[in-house]
Amino acid sequence: MKVLVYGSLNIDIVFTVDHIVLPGETISSASFERNAGGKGANQAAALAKAGLDVFMAGKIGIDGEFLLRVLNAYGVDTSNVSVYEGSTGNALIQVDRNGQNSIVLYAGGNGDINTLEIERVISSFDAGDFIIMQNEISCTKEIIIAAKKRDLKIHLNPSPYNEKIETLPLEAVDCFFVNELEGASLAGLPKDTPFADVLDNLTGRFPGSEIILTAGKKGAYYGLNDARKYVGIVDVPVVDTTGAGDTFTGYFLAARAKGFVIREALEVASKASSIAVSRKGAMDSVPFAKEVFL
Ligand code: RIB
Repeated sequence: MKVLVYGSLNIDIVFTVDHIVLPGETISSASFERNAGGKGANQAAALAKAGLDVFMAGKIGIDGEFLLRVLNAYGVDTSNVSVYEGSTGNALIQVDRNGQNSIVLYAGGNGDINTLEIERVISSFDAGDFIIMQNEISCTKEIIIAAKKRDLKIHLNPSPYNEKIETLPLEAVDCFFVNELEGASLAGLPKDTPFADVLDNLTGRFPGSEIILTAGKKGAYYGLNDARKYVGIVDVPVVDTTGAGDTFTGYFLAARAKGFVIREALEVASKASSIAVSRKGAMDSVPFAKEVFL
């Protein structure tokens, strides 16, 4: 079984600030970093750090070639990442004194995916292989359709959530990864709806699909039809939450691929993401397998 992440690769420009800058305000940053990031690339790195063979597909500009070196160093196969003449995706990230972030995205190559590339990439994967997508690239709909035709097992992390999600063929998705807000949005419910109700709604709307709902310090929930599982978090001092969700997704899937049952996979993913939030950075903060699988 092969694992394909078809998703974003970003250059993360990270500012460490006291608070997220307000409209009209100018503030200073205690540090400035230029890191490898993007939800797709972070999830690919998490899967690889967890010990899986991972293939990444997407698009960057020449300015982002260091992303390939970083991913290759973690063992990710990047032969399906194309390099075009424009700019790589950029994420302008502020991390405040509580470790919370705000992010502005420029799509760059992530917004330039086309159907010819999709057909070429998907044709090298077979029935039962896993595909994981997020919502930071163009043509997600076309990727889902091509993956479904090829009978891949489709995983979607609809993040960042926007109106585009509702235009996707969501009935083809086998497994959703959502946080509290994404879960409520996908369910069409108010954002303060209890998690159990969100889960009931989503398992009802998507029968046969797995729903993994992460709720920060309130733990992680799993639903499939009438089945439910829950695990609490490993409480740690929060340094930087950027990439915590990507770490959870990568480690949950890696644990499942290694044969862990749902509860164990939730525990593994919860531990991995708690390690990630206790460190600075996104992709850099994802732990290695030896720190998680003891
Ligand atoms: O999930 C974290 C990621 O979101 C960052 O690495 C940034 O690139 C944005 O895509």
